[in-house]
Amino acid sequence: MAKKKIVLGAWIHGVGGGWGDWRHPDSLPNASTNWDFYKQQAQIAEAGKMDFVFIADSVSINENSSPHYLNRFEPMTILSAIAGNTNHIGLVGTVTVSYSEPYTLARQFSSLDHISHGRAGWNVVTSWLSGTADNYSRNHHPSHPERYQIAQEFLDVTKGLWDSWEDDAFVYDKESGVFFDKEKLHPLNHKGKYFSVKGPLNIARSKQGQPVIFQAGVSEDGRNFAAKNADAIFAGHQSKGELQAYYADVKRRAREFGRNPDEVFILPGIIPVIGDTQEEADRKHQEIANLVTIDKALHALGRPFDDHDFTQYPLDEPFPDLGDLGRNSHRGTSEKIKQNAKERNLTLRQAALEFATPKGEFVGTPERVADLIQEWIDEKAADGFIIGASTPKGLPEFVDYVVPILQERGIFRKEYGHDTLRGHFGLEVPPNCYSKKILQ
Ligand SMILES: Cc1cc2nc3c(=O)[nH]c(=O)nc-3n(C[C@H](O)[C@H](O)[C@H](O)COP(=O)(O)O)c2cc1C
Repeated sequence: MAKKKIVLGAWIHGVGGGWGDWRHPDSLPNASTNWDFYKQQAQIAEAGKMDFVFIADSVSINENSSPHYLNRFEPMTILSAIAGNTNHIGLVGTVTVSYSEPYTLARQFSSLDHISHGRAGWNVVTSWLSGTADNYSRNHHPSHPERYQIAQEFLDVTKGLWDSWEDDAFVYDKESGVFFDKEKLHPLNHKGKYFSVKGPLNIARSKQGQPVIFQAGVSEDGRNFAAKNADAIFAGHQSKGELQAYYADVKRRAREFGRNPDEVFILPGIIPVIGDTQEEADRKHQEIANLVTIDKALHALGRPFDDHDFTQYPLDEPFPDLGDLGRNSHRGTSEKIKQNAKERNLTLRQAALEFATPKGEFVGTPERVADLIQEWIDEKAADGFIIGASTPKGLPEFVDYVVPILQERGIFRKEYGHDTLRGHFGLEVPPNCYSKKILQ
């Protein structure tokens, strides 16, 4: 039986996702707005034949936000620049549905998809930070369930707009003067609860038909949204056991929505730290963890609780009782923090440091990291991984030392077989919904 091929994405995250990463001797403190850094990392990921690069995003900060959040590129802009400096790798970016308009977003992603010849992917997020409302002239942040209702309508409208033009709609007949075939142009005429969009969109479908859809649902609503709509799902869970449960649950939901679960790819985020020996890898991880002060760890912990101020509680007493706090923001993560602290009887200090400097399992020699990747795939905890890094050396070390092992084992490509993101995933180009109707 052919071995299952794994999916690998590179999470290019400027100065790193952590609170102390920027202080590391190898770090570039301005990496999050450094084009040369992004270009270099994207080209390294492409040299490693990785499936895609990923640019995360959010649109609200305060003085307690982590360094990368404070000063960073907007995803569509940086992905467009990367498109012109790469040839094969997929280009995935986050844009929030809670503070965007479907028509604008559909145009932007379609433009990126054309510029890159079919390599665009959209990570659909709903935004958990309530402060976002203050940046978008709104007087309230929608509730958690409402955000997912908005997300569904937003995505349906966007996909409808992407099909405005059938694939052969533009005739370009210079002789007769016919630019397009009127029969193959379809306005959307959408009037719903949240959006009113007439269409049609002013850009044709791309080489891969429509951008690939990514999501990262953790909560009940989030999992249903992801299972119903996403081609690829980011997972934030730490352990293999938790992921196996998540994997089985989301694949089951996808099947119940009438989808082929093999076409829904579960991709946990991991931050490999590689050393020649296990001791060296452990030392490298500890060096990064030591850069996070307890003050910063408390800020980090506050984030999934909508920037709750944890400095008001005693550090060395049991984790405070927070009631429902966090349910309306980053629900899945905040619930997990509370549950973990309670089950393991953690003090606030322990919970904060564990959360801010997690030591995942992927700290070790290249063989150890490759073994774990293979094991998690074989044991149905993942279909691939999104690879993060705390310093600029993290990605090149992964590409130079771990990727060749996976290639030798026949579970990762040695050359690109396709030049679209859909092609990398082995997904078909979705037929235009109007052409499909005629065929039926
Ligand atoms: C790998 C990964 C990447 C993510 N990227 C973003 C992002 O760029 N922007 C964002 O607002 N949320 C991001 N999230 C968070 C999710 O979109 C989502 O808000 C979170 O998982 C909470 O889901 P829930 O509302 O279903 O609990 C990411 C999550 C994971 C695991």
